[in-house]
Amino acid sequence: MSLDTPIAKPHDRLRDALDEDLTAVNVLIRDRMASEHAPRIPEVTAHLVEAGGKRIRPMLTLAAARLCGYDGDAHVKLAATVEFIHTATLLHDDVVDESSKRRGRPTANLLWDNKSSILVGDYLFARAFQLMVETESLQVLDILSNAAATIAEGEVLQLSAAMNIETTEATYLQVIRGKTAALFEAACEVGGVIADRDDSIVKALASYGDGLGIAFQMADDLLDWGGTSGAIGKNIGDDFRERKLTLPVIRAIAAADANERAFWARTIGKGDQRDGDLDTALGLLGRHGTLEQTRVVANGYADQAKAALGALPDHPLRDMMHDLADYVVERLN
Ligand code: IPE
Ligand code: IPE
Ligand code: MG
Ligand code: MG
Repeated sequence: MSLDTPIAKPHDRLRDALDEDLTAVNVLIRDRMASEHAPRIPEVTAHLVEAGGKRIRPMLTLAAARLCGYDGDAHVKLAATVEFIHTATLLHDDVVDESSKRRGRPTANLLWDNKSSILVGDYLFARAFQLMVETESLQVLDILSNAAATIAEGEVLQLSAAMNIETTEATYLQVIRGKTAALFEAACEVGGVIADRDDSIVKALASYGDGLGIAFQMADDLLDWGGTSGAIGKNIGDDFRERKLTLPVIRAIAAADANERAFWARTIGKGDQRDGDLDTALGLLGRHGTLEQTRVVANGYADQAKAALGALPDHPLRDMMHDLADYVVERLN
């Protein structure tokens, strides 16, 4: 291959390999996101869904099912379920975080209002549950309803940890495992369950999803400091403004001298933020090398994900999932 031939990203290779299934998922999403009774619902859902989204979680469900040899059609319902749960959490999350940009567009809370975002998010949750019931698998219901509860716990735990500069790495890990990795884990797991694979395979899929999800969220937390708004489709510096303790900040606080600690206590502890503080914060992360450290930790979780794949059948989709684990850490959006 010549040097100027771009190598397709694992995410794009997965999308190509799962093209037919993914089209069916998108059709199902469009069908079920509508409502005949409340026009505000399709307005809001169309705004969010038409903006796209990477569809990583539904692709994981489809890939897990296919690589386990599944040849029915319940995996399409499960993939749509997972994306609905994800979309519902995004609607709620943007209200909680007071975010103004999502998927390169103004957020629903900005275009409509908080009330619409919360209620349409609730509607999507309910639609997700209807869809998963249609699979008639109690085990799937168990996994996905547990994941939904764990996501909410992660978001609430984060709420209590925000603004507290004593927040530990253990708490941070618990937050991201809950708010993000739980759904990655469940998305992978249900693919194996629907294919009727035994426990060791389902556990390996769960471990892959957990490692991938943690690495993904750590990368997202890095992007919040380093990405350009155009590339990530969200604003940068949101976490600092929201006084969220992500790993680069937790590590920088641990390494801080007295002056630096006073800076973090003022900006994150007290919420007294002035012009130039975001740049100062970024400088401190650079000084202590904590963005790079976070990348190393994230790569460790990507390694966990890749190691788990060893228990799964040899398959081209498995190779793409392997490469995806590396890619999520280096991604630009
Ligand atoms: C955003 O997830 C929420 C996080 C867990 C960081 P994605 O980055 O997968 O969002 P979309 O679906 O591609 O917009
Ligand atoms: C995303 O959390 C996790 C959920 C939506 C549950 P964040 O608040 O860190 O993600 P972004 O940056 O808004 O996508
Ligand atoms: Mg957010
Ligand atoms: Mg949030």
